[in-house]
Amino acid sequence: MSILIVNIKSLLGVEAAHEAKRVVAGADMKLLPEINNAWVHIDNGIVKAFGSMENVPEINADETIDATGKIVMPAFCDSHTHLVFAKSRHGEFVDRINGLSYEEIARRGGGILNSARMLNETDEAELFDNSLQRLEQVVSQGTGAIEIKSGYGLCLEGEMKMLRVARKLKEQTKVAIKTSLLAAHAYPLEYKENKQGYINLIINEILPKVAGEGLADYMDVFCEQGFFSVDDTERLLEAGWKYGLKPKIHANQLHYSGGVQVGVKMNALSVDHLECVGDAEIEALKGSNTMPTLLPGAAFFLGIQYQPARKIIDAGLPVCLASDYNPGSCPSGNMQLLMSLACTQLKMNPEEAINAMTINGAAAMELDKEMGTIKLGKKAKLIITKPMPHIAFMPYDYGNNSVERVIL
Ligand code: NIG
Ligand code: FE
Repeated sequence: MSILIVNIKSLLGVEAAHEAKRVVAGADMKLLPEINNAWVHIDNGIVKAFGSMENVPEINADETIDATGKIVMPAFCDSHTHLVFAKSRHGEFVDRINGLSYEEIARRGGGILNSARMLNETDEAELFDNSLQRLEQVVSQGTGAIEIKSGYGLCLEGEMKMLRVARKLKEQTKVAIKTSLLAAHAYPLEYKENKQGYINLIINEILPKVAGEGLADYMDVFCEQGFFSVDDTERLLEAGWKYGLKPKIHANQLHYSGGVQVGVKMNALSVDHLECVGDAEIEALKGSNTMPTLLPGAAFFLGIQYQPARKIIDAGLPVCLASDYNPGSCPSGNMQLLMSLACTQLKMNPEEAINAMTINGAAAMELDKEMGTIKLGKKAKLIITKPMPHIAFMPYDYGNNSVERVIL
Protein backbone atom coordinates (compact mmCIF):
# COMPACT_ATOMS: atom_id res chain seq x y z
CA MET A 1 0.00 0.00 0.00
CA SER A 2 1.48 3.35 -0.99
CA ILE A 3 0.13 6.85 -0.39
CA LEU A 4 1.19 10.09 -2.03
CA ILE A 5 0.21 13.35 -0.32
CA VAL A 6 0.57 16.41 -2.53
CA ASN A 7 0.08 20.18 -2.36
CA ILE A 8 0.82 20.19 1.38
CA LYS A 9 0.76 23.74 2.69
CA SER A 10 3.47 22.87 5.22
CA LEU A 11 5.22 19.57 5.88
CA LEU A 12 6.15 20.13 9.48
CA GLY A 13 8.74 18.45 11.70
CA VAL A 14 10.96 17.17 8.90
CA GLU A 15 14.41 15.80 9.61
CA ALA A 16 17.22 15.35 7.08
CA ALA A 17 18.49 11.83 6.46
CA HIS A 18 21.95 12.58 7.88
CA GLU A 19 20.59 13.91 11.17
CA ALA A 20 20.09 11.63 14.18
CA LYS A 21 17.89 13.68 16.43
CA ARG A 22 17.02 12.01 19.73
CA VAL A 23 15.69 14.99 21.64
CA VAL A 24 15.28 18.70 21.06
CA ALA A 25 16.37 20.87 24.00
CA GLY A 26 16.59 24.46 25.17
CA ALA A 27 16.46 27.22 22.54
CA ASP A 28 16.26 24.59 19.75
CA MET A 29 12.78 23.67 20.93
CA LYS A 30 11.47 26.71 19.06
CA LEU A 31 12.76 25.25 15.78
CA LEU A 32 10.37 23.08 13.84
CA PRO A 33 11.82 22.51 10.38
CA GLU A 34 9.26 22.60 7.58
CA ILE A 35 8.92 22.43 3.81
CA ASN A 36 6.27 24.68 2.33
CA ASN A 37 4.23 23.49 -0.66
CA ALA A 38 5.41 19.93 -0.20
CA TRP A 39 4.71 16.29 -1.03
CA VAL A 40 5.41 13.09 0.86
CA HIS A 41 5.39 9.50 -0.36
CA ILE A 42 4.56 6.67 2.03
CA ASP A 43 5.28 3.08 1.10
CA ASN A 44 4.25 0.16 3.31
CA GLY A 45 3.93 2.43 6.32
CA ILE A 46 7.38 3.98 5.89
CA VAL A 47 8.34 7.51 4.76
CA LYS A 48 9.83 6.77 1.35
CA ALA A 49 10.47 10.29 0.03
CA PHE A 50 9.39 13.90 0.44
CA GLY A 51 10.21 17.29 -1.00
CA SER A 52 8.93 20.47 -2.54
CA MET A 53 6.13 20.50 -5.14
CA GLU A 54 8.55 22.31 -7.45
CA ASN A 55 10.14 18.94 -8.14
CA VAL A 56 7.56 16.28 -7.44
CA PRO A 57 8.46 13.00 -9.18
CA GLU A 58 6.06 10.79 -11.13
CA ILE A 59 4.79 8.30 -8.51
CA ASN A 60 2.13 5.69 -9.06
CA ALA A 61 0.59 5.47 -5.61
CA ASP A 62 -2.44 3.42 -4.52
CA GLU A 63 -3.93 6.56 -3.03
CA THR A 64 -3.18 10.20 -3.77
CA ILE A 65 -4.31 12.80 -1.24
CA ASP A 66 -4.60 16.47 -2.10
CA ALA A 67 -3.64 18.40 1.04
CA THR A 68 -4.18 21.91 -0.30
CA GLY A 69 -4.29 24.37 2.61
CA LYS A 70 -3.46 21.62 5.12
CA ILE A 71 -0.47 20.83 7.31
CA VAL A 72 1.11 17.37 7.54
CA MET A 73 3.08 16.62 10.69
CA PRO A 74 4.22 13.68 12.83
CA ALA A 75 1.47 12.05 14.91
CA PHE A 76 1.57 12.84 18.62
CA CYS A 77 3.67 10.58 20.85
CA ASP A 78 1.90 10.48 24.22
CA SER A 79 4.50 9.05 26.60
CA HIS A 80 2.44 8.89 29.83
CA THR A 81 -1.09 7.49 30.15
CA HIS A 82 -3.24 5.27 32.32
CA LEU A 83 -5.57 4.53 29.40
CA VAL A 84 -6.58 1.08 30.63
CA PHE A 85 -9.11 1.62 33.41
CA ALA A 86 -12.55 0.31 34.23
CA LYS A 87 -14.81 3.28 34.94
CA SER A 88 -14.94 7.03 35.36
CA ARG A 89 -14.61 8.77 38.76
CA HIS A 90 -17.00 11.63 38.14
CA GLY A 91 -18.26 11.41 41.75
CA GLU A 92 -14.83 12.40 43.06
CA PHE A 93 -14.74 15.21 40.52
CA VAL A 94 -17.84 16.65 42.18
CA ASP A 95 -16.37 16.00 45.66
CA ARG A 96 -13.37 18.10 44.68
CA ILE A 97 -15.60 20.90 43.40
CA ASN A 98 -17.26 20.85 46.82
CA GLY A 99 -13.97 21.23 48.66
CA LEU A 100 -12.28 17.84 49.17
CA SER A 101 -8.69 17.67 47.95
CA TYR A 102 -7.27 14.93 45.73
CA GLU A 103 -5.08 13.77 48.62
CA GLU A 104 -7.98 13.77 51.09
CA ILE A 105 -10.07 11.65 48.71
CA ALA A 106 -7.15 9.21 48.46
CA ARG A 107 -6.79 9.08 52.27
CA ARG A 108 -10.47 8.14 52.53
CA GLY A 109 -9.94 5.13 50.27
CA GLY A 110 -11.11 6.79 47.06
CA GLY A 111 -8.85 7.84 44.21
CA ILE A 112 -6.53 5.15 42.93
CA LEU A 113 -8.04 2.59 45.37
CA ASN A 114 -11.48 3.35 43.96
CA SER A 115 -10.18 2.64 40.45
CA ALA A 116 -8.50 -0.54 41.70
CA ARG A 117 -11.77 -1.80 43.18
CA MET A 118 -13.59 -1.20 39.91
CA LEU A 119 -10.81 -2.68 37.82
CA ASN A 120 -10.65 -5.90 39.79
CA GLU A 121 -14.43 -6.29 39.36
CA THR A 122 -14.25 -5.85 35.58
CA ASP A 123 -13.50 -8.78 33.30
CA GLU A 124 -10.72 -8.63 30.78
CA ALA A 125 -12.91 -8.55 27.66
CA GLU A 126 -14.91 -5.58 28.93
CA LEU A 127 -11.73 -3.80 29.98
CA PHE A 128 -10.33 -4.33 26.50
CA ASP A 129 -13.45 -2.97 24.80
CA ASN A 130 -13.49 0.18 27.00
CA SER A 131 -9.80 0.76 26.47
CA LEU A 132 -9.99 0.25 22.71
CA GLN A 133 -12.72 2.88 22.50
CA ARG A 134 -10.51 5.35 24.36
CA LEU A 135 -7.56 4.52 22.16
CA GLU A 136 -9.59 5.05 18.99
CA GLN A 137 -10.76 8.38 20.32
CA VAL A 138 -7.24 9.70 21.02
CA VAL A 139 -6.09 8.45 17.63
CA SER A 140 -8.85 10.50 16.00
CA GLN A 141 -7.37 13.48 17.88
CA GLY A 142 -3.88 12.85 16.49
CA THR A 143 -2.11 10.32 18.72
CA GLY A 144 0.04 7.75 16.92
CA ALA A 145 2.14 6.36 19.79
CA ILE A 146 1.22 5.91 23.41
CA GLU A 147 2.59 4.57 26.67
CA ILE A 148 0.11 2.74 28.90
CA LYS A 149 0.61 1.99 32.59
CA SER A 150 -0.79 -0.61 34.92
CA GLY A 151 -1.43 0.54 38.48
CA TYR A 152 -5.14 -0.03 39.04
CA GLY A 153 -4.74 -3.71 39.82
CA LEU A 154 -2.51 -3.41 42.89
CA CYS A 155 -2.36 -7.21 43.01
CA LEU A 156 -0.72 -9.78 40.78
CA GLU A 157 -3.83 -10.73 38.81
CA GLY A 158 -5.10 -7.16 38.36
CA GLU A 159 -1.77 -5.79 37.21
CA MET A 160 -1.31 -8.68 34.77
CA LYS A 161 -4.84 -8.17 33.44
CA MET A 162 -4.20 -4.49 32.70
CA LEU A 163 -0.92 -5.23 30.95
CA ARG A 164 -2.46 -8.06 28.91
CA VAL A 165 -5.13 -5.62 27.74
CA ALA A 166 -2.42 -3.14 26.74
CA ARG A 167 -0.56 -5.87 24.87
CA LYS A 168 -3.73 -6.82 23.02
CA LEU A 169 -4.24 -3.18 22.04
CA LYS A 170 -0.72 -3.24 20.64
CA GLU A 171 -1.41 -6.41 18.67
CA GLN A 172 -4.78 -5.34 17.33
CA THR A 173 -4.12 -1.71 16.35
CA LYS A 174 -1.49 0.18 14.37
CA VAL A 175 -0.69 2.48 17.28
CA ALA A 176 2.88 2.20 18.63
CA ILE A 177 2.42 1.12 22.25
CA LYS A 178 4.81 0.85 25.21
CA THR A 179 3.80 -0.41 28.64
CA SER A 180 4.91 0.33 32.19
CA LEU A 181 4.44 -1.65 35.38
CA LEU A 182 3.04 0.78 37.96
CA ALA A 183 2.13 -1.66 40.73
CA ALA A 184 3.72 0.92 43.06
CA HIS A 185 0.88 3.38 42.46
CA ALA A 186 -0.80 3.12 45.89
CA TYR A 187 -0.93 0.67 48.81
CA PRO A 188 -3.89 -1.72 48.61
CA LEU A 189 -6.16 -1.62 51.68
CA GLU A 190 -4.95 -4.95 53.04
CA TYR A 191 -1.38 -3.58 53.11
CA LYS A 192 -2.29 -0.25 54.71
CA GLU A 193 -0.41 -1.19 57.88
CA ASN A 194 2.24 -3.24 56.11
CA LYS A 195 3.69 -1.06 53.39
CA GLN A 196 6.96 -2.96 53.13
CA GLY A 197 4.88 -6.11 52.66
CA TYR A 198 3.34 -4.67 49.51
CA ILE A 199 6.71 -3.51 48.21
CA ASN A 200 8.03 -7.03 48.79
CA LEU A 201 5.06 -8.44 46.89
CA ILE A 202 5.85 -6.19 43.95
CA ILE A 203 9.54 -7.07 43.96
CA ASN A 204 9.23 -10.78 44.65
CA GLU A 205 6.05 -11.72 42.81
CA ILE A 206 4.50 -9.13 40.53
CA LEU A 207 7.68 -7.90 38.86
CA PRO A 208 9.12 -11.36 38.04
CA LYS A 209 5.80 -12.57 36.59
CA VAL A 210 5.21 -9.43 34.54
CA ALA A 211 8.78 -9.41 33.25
CA GLY A 212 8.66 -13.16 32.63
CA GLU A 213 5.73 -12.74 30.28
CA GLY A 214 7.29 -9.70 28.63
CA LEU A 215 4.29 -7.59 29.58
CA ALA A 216 6.12 -4.38 30.50
CA ASP A 217 8.81 -2.23 28.94
CA TYR A 218 9.26 0.10 31.92
CA MET A 219 8.99 0.33 35.70
CA ASP A 220 7.02 3.20 37.22
CA VAL A 221 6.60 4.32 40.83
CA PHE A 222 4.39 7.06 42.28
CA CYS A 223 7.12 8.75 44.32
CA GLU A 224 5.18 11.10 46.55
CA GLN A 225 4.47 11.93 50.20
CA GLY A 226 1.84 9.48 51.43
CA PHE A 227 2.61 7.08 48.57
CA PHE A 228 6.11 5.71 47.86
CA SER A 229 9.13 7.34 49.52
CA VAL A 230 12.42 8.09 47.80
CA ASP A 231 14.00 5.03 49.46
CA ASP A 232 11.12 2.78 48.43
CA THR A 233 11.35 4.18 44.92
CA GLU A 234 15.06 3.44 44.68
CA ARG A 235 14.56 -0.10 45.88
CA LEU A 236 11.73 -0.72 43.43
CA LEU A 237 13.62 0.78 40.50
CA GLU A 238 16.70 -1.26 41.29
CA ALA A 239 14.56 -4.38 41.22
CA GLY A 240 13.06 -3.28 37.90
CA TRP A 241 16.52 -2.77 36.38
CA LYS A 242 17.39 -6.39 37.26
CA TYR A 243 14.64 -7.44 34.87
CA GLY A 244 15.65 -4.90 32.24
CA LEU A 245 12.77 -2.55 32.97
CA LYS A 246 14.03 1.03 32.75
CA PRO A 247 12.46 3.52 35.14
CA LYS A 248 9.87 6.09 34.10
CA ILE A 249 8.46 7.61 37.26
CA HIS A 250 5.81 9.90 38.73
CA ALA A 251 7.78 12.64 40.48
CA ASN A 252 7.23 15.99 42.19
CA GLN A 253 3.51 16.25 41.49
CA LEU A 254 2.29 17.39 44.90
CA HIS A 255 5.52 18.09 46.81
CA TYR A 256 9.25 18.65 46.43
CA SER A 257 9.66 14.96 47.12
CA GLY A 258 13.16 14.19 45.86
CA GLY A 259 11.54 12.19 43.06
CA VAL A 260 13.41 13.99 40.30
CA GLN A 261 16.76 13.40 42.00
CA VAL A 262 16.14 9.69 42.59
CA GLY A 263 14.91 9.34 39.00
CA VAL A 264 18.12 10.88 37.65
CA LYS A 265 20.21 8.79 40.04
CA MET A 266 18.51 5.62 38.83
CA ASN A 267 18.96 6.66 35.19
CA ALA A 268 15.24 6.99 34.53
CA LEU A 269 14.11 7.45 30.96
CA SER A 270 11.78 10.17 32.19
CA VAL A 271 10.54 11.87 35.35
CA ASP A 272 6.92 12.87 34.92
CA HIS A 273 4.54 15.50 36.38
CA LEU A 274 7.02 18.07 37.78
CA GLU A 275 4.60 20.61 39.18
CA CYS A 276 7.12 21.10 42.01
CA VAL A 277 10.42 21.88 40.34
CA GLY A 278 13.04 24.33 41.57
CA ASP A 279 16.74 24.94 41.05
CA ALA A 280 17.84 21.69 42.74
CA GLU A 281 15.65 19.60 40.41
CA ILE A 282 16.89 21.49 37.35
CA GLU A 283 20.51 21.04 38.41
CA ALA A 284 19.90 17.31 38.84
CA LEU A 285 18.42 17.05 35.34
CA LYS A 286 21.30 18.88 33.66
CA GLY A 287 23.81 16.47 32.19
CA SER A 288 21.44 13.53 32.55
CA ASN A 289 19.57 11.60 29.86
CA THR A 290 16.36 11.75 31.87
CA MET A 291 13.51 13.48 30.07
CA PRO A 292 11.54 16.05 32.10
CA THR A 293 7.95 15.23 31.18
CA LEU A 294 5.23 17.74 31.99
CA LEU A 295 1.59 16.77 32.46
CA PRO A 296 -0.33 20.06 32.49
CA GLY A 297 -3.63 18.26 31.88
CA ALA A 298 -3.47 16.88 35.43
CA ALA A 299 -2.54 20.29 36.88
CA PHE A 300 -5.49 21.81 35.02
CA PHE A 301 -7.98 19.19 36.14
CA LEU A 302 -6.82 19.18 39.78
CA GLY A 303 -6.53 22.97 39.85
CA ILE A 304 -2.96 22.88 41.14
CA GLN A 305 0.07 24.89 40.04
CA TYR A 306 1.36 24.39 36.51
CA GLN A 307 4.82 23.09 35.68
CA PRO A 308 7.58 25.71 35.21
CA ALA A 309 8.21 24.85 31.56
CA ARG A 310 10.00 28.12 30.75
CA LYS A 311 12.43 27.70 33.60
CA ILE A 312 13.27 24.18 32.43
CA ILE A 313 13.62 25.07 28.74
CA ASP A 314 15.54 28.26 29.47
CA ALA A 315 18.00 26.16 31.48
CA GLY A 316 18.82 24.40 28.20
CA LEU A 317 16.89 21.24 29.02
CA PRO A 318 14.39 19.40 26.84
CA VAL A 319 10.74 19.22 27.81
CA CYS A 320 8.26 16.52 26.91
CA LEU A 321 4.49 16.93 27.15
CA ALA A 322 2.18 13.98 27.79
CA SER A 323 -1.50 13.67 28.58
CA ASP A 324 -1.55 11.54 31.78
CA TYR A 325 -4.94 10.28 30.53
CA ASN A 326 -6.51 8.65 33.63
CA PRO A 327 -9.88 8.58 35.39
CA GLY A 328 -8.81 10.63 38.43
CA SER A 329 -6.53 13.53 37.65
CA CYS A 330 -6.91 13.89 33.87
CA PRO A 331 -9.82 12.17 32.11
CA SER A 332 -8.71 13.39 28.68
CA GLY A 333 -6.04 12.14 26.30
CA ASN A 334 -6.59 14.95 23.82
CA MET A 335 -3.13 16.13 22.81
CA GLN A 336 -4.47 19.17 20.95
CA LEU A 337 -6.11 20.42 24.12
CA LEU A 338 -2.85 19.72 25.93
CA MET A 339 -1.05 21.84 23.35
CA SER A 340 -3.42 24.73 24.08
CA LEU A 341 -2.75 24.37 27.81
CA ALA A 342 0.99 24.27 27.24
CA CYS A 343 0.80 27.48 25.21
CA THR A 344 -1.61 29.43 27.40
CA GLN A 345 -0.57 28.24 30.87
CA LEU A 346 3.06 27.11 30.50
CA LYS A 347 3.91 29.88 28.01
CA MET A 348 5.37 27.43 25.53
CA ASN A 349 5.40 28.46 21.88
CA PRO A 350 3.36 26.24 19.55
CA GLU A 351 6.60 24.95 17.99
CA GLU A 352 8.02 24.10 21.43
CA ALA A 353 4.82 22.32 22.35
CA ILE A 354 4.86 20.29 19.14
CA ASN A 355 8.50 19.26 19.62
CA ALA A 356 7.59 18.32 23.20
CA MET A 357 4.80 15.99 22.07
CA THR A 358 6.43 14.52 18.95
CA ILE A 359 10.20 13.98 18.94
CA ASN A 360 10.65 14.38 22.71
CA GLY A 361 7.61 12.21 23.39
CA ALA A 362 9.06 9.57 21.10
CA ALA A 363 12.38 9.73 22.98
CA ALA A 364 10.57 9.28 26.31
CA MET A 365 9.31 5.94 24.91
CA GLU A 366 12.54 5.03 23.08
CA LEU A 367 10.72 5.39 19.79
CA ASP A 368 12.85 8.26 18.47
CA LYS A 369 14.45 6.10 15.76
CA GLU A 370 11.01 5.23 14.38
CA MET A 371 8.78 8.21 15.04
CA GLY A 372 8.61 11.83 16.15
CA THR A 373 9.90 13.49 12.96
CA ILE A 374 9.23 13.06 9.25
CA LYS A 375 12.41 11.40 8.07
CA LEU A 376 13.29 8.91 5.35
CA GLY A 377 12.92 5.38 6.70
CA LYS A 378 10.92 6.35 9.78
CA LYS A 379 7.39 5.10 10.31
CA ALA A 380 4.83 7.23 8.50
CA LYS A 381 2.53 7.86 11.44
CA LEU A 382 1.25 11.25 10.38
CA ILE A 383 -1.45 13.82 10.97
CA ILE A 384 -3.17 15.64 8.13
CA THR A 385 -4.81 18.73 9.58
CA LYS A 386 -7.93 20.49 8.44
CA PRO A 387 -7.15 23.55 6.31
CA MET A 388 -5.55 26.18 8.57
CA PRO A 389 -3.64 29.43 8.16
CA HIS A 390 -0.65 28.45 10.34
CA ILE A 391 0.24 25.72 12.85
CA ALA A 392 -0.35 28.23 15.67
CA PHE A 393 -4.01 27.96 14.74
CA MET A 394 -4.10 24.44 16.22
CA PRO A 395 -3.57 25.42 19.89
CA TYR A 396 -5.38 28.73 19.31
CA ASP A 397 -8.54 26.98 18.13
CA TYR A 398 -8.79 25.19 21.49
CA GLY A 399 -11.50 22.67 22.18
CA ASN A 400 -11.97 21.94 18.48
CA ASN A 401 -10.49 19.10 16.49
CA SER A 402 -7.96 20.40 13.96
CA VAL A 403 -7.08 16.89 12.82
CA GLU A 404 -8.72 15.72 9.62
CA ARG A 405 -7.01 12.36 9.23
CA VAL A 406 -4.41 10.28 10.99
CA ILE A 407 -2.32 7.87 8.96
CA LEU A 408 -0.97 5.01 11.03
O1 NIG B 1 -0.52 10.54 37.12
N1 NIG B 1 -0.38 10.70 40.38
C1 NIG B 1 -0.57 9.49 40.30
N2 NIG B 1 -1.23 8.83 39.36
C2 NIG B 1 -2.07 9.40 38.37
C3 NIG B 1 -3.46 9.58 38.81
C4 NIG B 1 -4.09 8.36 39.26
C5 NIG B 1 -5.52 8.49 39.63
O2 NIG B 1 -5.95 9.44 40.28
O3 NIG B 1 -6.22 7.56 39.24
C6 NIG B 1 -1.49 10.66 37.82
O4 NIG B 1 -1.99 11.77 38.04
FE1 FE C 1 0.22 9.47 35.71
